[in-house]
Order: sequence, then structure tokens, then C-alpha cells
Amino acid sequence: MRAVEVIEKKRDGHELSTAEIDAFIDGYVSGKVADYQAAAWAMAVLLRGMTLRETVDLTMAMVRSGETLDLSSVAPRVVDKHSTGGVGDKTTLVVAPIVAAAGLPVVKMSGRGLGFSGGTLDKLESIPGLRVELSSADFLATVRLHGIAVVGQTANLVPADGKLYALRDVTGTVPSLPLIASSIMSKKIAGGADAIVLDVKVGRGAFMERVADARVLAELMIQIGQGVGRQVTALLSDMSQPLGYAIGNALEVTEAIDCLRHEGPPDLENHCLAVAAEMLLLGQVAESPEEAHDLARQQLVQGQALAKFGDWIAAQGGDTRVIDSPALLPQAPWRQTIVADDDGYVEQLDARSFGLACVELGGGRQRKEDAIDHSVGIVLHAKTGAKVSAGAPLYTLHARSQDDAERMARHLAPAVRLSQRNVSAPPLILDVLRG
Ligand code: URA
Repeated sequence: MRAVEVIEKKRDGHELSTAEIDAFIDGYVSGKVADYQAAAWAMAVLLRGMTLRETVDLTMAMVRSGETLDLSSVAPRVVDKHSTGGVGDKTTLVVAPIVAAAGLPVVKMSGRGLGFSGGTLDKLESIPGLRVELSSADFLATVRLHGIAVVGQTANLVPADGKLYALRDVTGTVPSLPLIASSIMSKKIAGGADAIVLDVKVGRGAFMERVADARVLAELMIQIGQGVGRQVTALLSDMSQPLGYAIGNALEVTEAIDCLRHEGPPDLENHCLAVAAEMLLLGQVAESPEEAHDLARQQLVQGQALAKFGDWIAAQGGDTRVIDSPALLPQAPWRQTIVADDDGYVEQLDARSFGLACVELGGGRQRKEDAIDHSVGIVLHAKTGAKVSAGAPLYTLHARSQDDAERMARHLAPAVRLSQRNVSAPPLILDVLRG
């Protein structure tokens, strides 16, 4: 194969063969295809698209670029979940213990924050002592013992995606449906999942701002899964405003623990129960959506999910005293509460602006190698649709200094809009697509 011929063929809008896709991805990983050729090819894919067959071939070529996990010895059926990324999205911290407590093992590779969206590994690492880099032996032993482990992705899993994603990030080729779908699905398939629940976020705090685009992406990922014998369910969920009240690593861990006590914000609890129920359904632990939802809710209400969270944190070396004493989590030295100027209804809480503000406060990375401050972030006091009076608290900034807090309050002023008219809260789950 000559790389330039594959690029030209896609540039001219033709369908690539399986052999051409395999050879191009192999060549890129081994260094025979140069970065500039892969960038030109990615741009041709972005502009010309791919057929479903090409997208499935690309996904599987990426899966074969590295090792794949076989989890059959620790769990007969593995159901994974993946969120396409959002603001205040601490779903995994709540869903994983609910599902494990209900008897379905959770074996999960999570990611770090990307741009304005947070990452589960960063949130977990705000718990003193907790390790997300476990050896394969420790990882599997933890799953055998407790039915749950959440770790970082190893470098050997889908190296083609590691390379291609970094290239797409700097060549304007991220927002291509076949490239996003193959990137996500290759990692889930290589990670050993038999079935996958995708939480596809829609709105200002998500990759896909329009429901129609999110639906196309969800349907494409369901079809890729079906093409390789994996069952996939996709939820389309709202990300116009942050999920729950807390944004920022340690703040989100505290809120997740509240939620596991059945004392969390209603939107977060309802969202987590919806995701957990879909996992239990795919895991064949429940037979109907209603039964799955009841089973998930029982784990939360009766305390088994919180107990499982404690086992999980302890197994990965974390200090479980944070469960009863959240003050042991990193605390920001400066807090400043912003209040409403007028009476009104909250009409907009722009999720992207809050996500970016958290990054600016130090809670996310500007560059890949940056260290993050787990203590900082924002806690909302009112969500979209809430009625507030002049002087009522809107949100509290948790910052490293008064200067940082004041700068962020100025930045965030346009992100919150009040209306004189009654506003209804946006629906949380926009659709559920069961493949
Ligand atoms: N998440 C991924 O893992 N890959 C993409 O391309 C986009 C979001």
C-alpha cells in the first residue's frame, strides 16, 4: 500500500477497502505512515465521511493495533459504560458501586479531563492515597474480590487511538463522526466489554451541541457494536447545564458520596439510576427496564452502594475516612459566593463556561502535562428553572485566592441568565436507544 494512494482515494470520495484501512492504521502505528500523511487522511475522512463498513473496519484495525483484555476469568459478562464527556459529570463514581452492589462486576478504564470536560481519574485521585495505575494482576484481583475496579487506560491498549487522537486534537479533525465513533468504540472493545452503555451528552457542555448530531453519533456507535457482536445501548442526556451542583474534582467526590447516601441532587440521582439500570439490563441481571431501575434504586436507598464504594476505595488504596469526613478531601483556601441581582427564574447556566472556569481555577489542564489542583471548583446553588430572589446565592467559587475568585466571577457573569418568566428545567434524558 502507498499511503498517498489511500489519502487520494478518500480525498476523491471513494470507499476504502478493509485491506487499505488495515494497512494505513498498521503503517501509522509502526511509523511507516508519517504524521502529516495521517493528518491529511483524517481531514479527508472528516470532509468525505465513511460508510458504516469502513467505520467498523477502522474500529477493528484500531483494536488490533495493541493488546486486548480478556476478562472472562473474572466476570462472565462485562458491561462497560462510557460518557462522551461533560461538566459536573461524576456519574461513574455513583453508577459503578450501584451496579457492582447489584451483582454485576464493573471493570472500567476511565480517562482524565479533556478541555472543559472533567475526567473520572482526576476526580478519584482527589481521594488521598487512591491509585488509578494498578498492575494487571492487582486490577484483576480487585475485581475478583470486590467486583469493581476503575483504572487508567494502559499504553498498550489501542495505541493507534492514542496517536491519532493527539494528532486530531491539533489538526482540526476531532469533530468527525466516524473518527469519534471508532475512537470510543475501539477502546471499549479492546477493554474487554461484552456490552456497552453509552452516555451521549448533548448541549453547550458537550462535544455534540445538537440532539440530531448526538443521535447520529449514538446510532453509529450502536451499529459498530452490532457489527462486532457487542450489544450497545445509548442514552442521549442533557448537558446544557452542569450535572448536579458540584464542578471540580474533590467537590464532585463529595457530591457523589452524598448521592450514594441518597442525599444528592435529584438530577444526578435520576441520571445515575437511568445509566445503572441500562447496565443491569445489558448485564442480564434484570429482565425489564422497570426491574433494573428498582434494583439500582434499592442499592442506593438501602446503603449497599455506599458500602461498595468504601470497599472499592479501600481496595485501590484510598482513605475511606473521606466518606464520613469530606473535610479530609483537598479544600480550597478561598470561597466566594455570587448572588442574584434581581428576582427571577434561572434561564441559563452555561455548562461550557462553568467547565472552563473550573479549568482556569486550576481544576483542569491547559496542557497535557499540567498538574491539577483537586480542591478548586464551583458549587451551584440553583439550577435551570429555579426561582431565586435578589440576594439569593447562585454559586460559590472555591479558589486558590481572592484574585482568582474575583476574576472568575467576572468571567462567569454572562454564563448565568435570569428571566422574569417561568422557565422549566430541561429534560434530563432526551432518549434511550437500545440497539
Ligand atoms: N472521546 C474519545 O475517546 N474520542 C473522540 O474522538 C472523542 C471523544
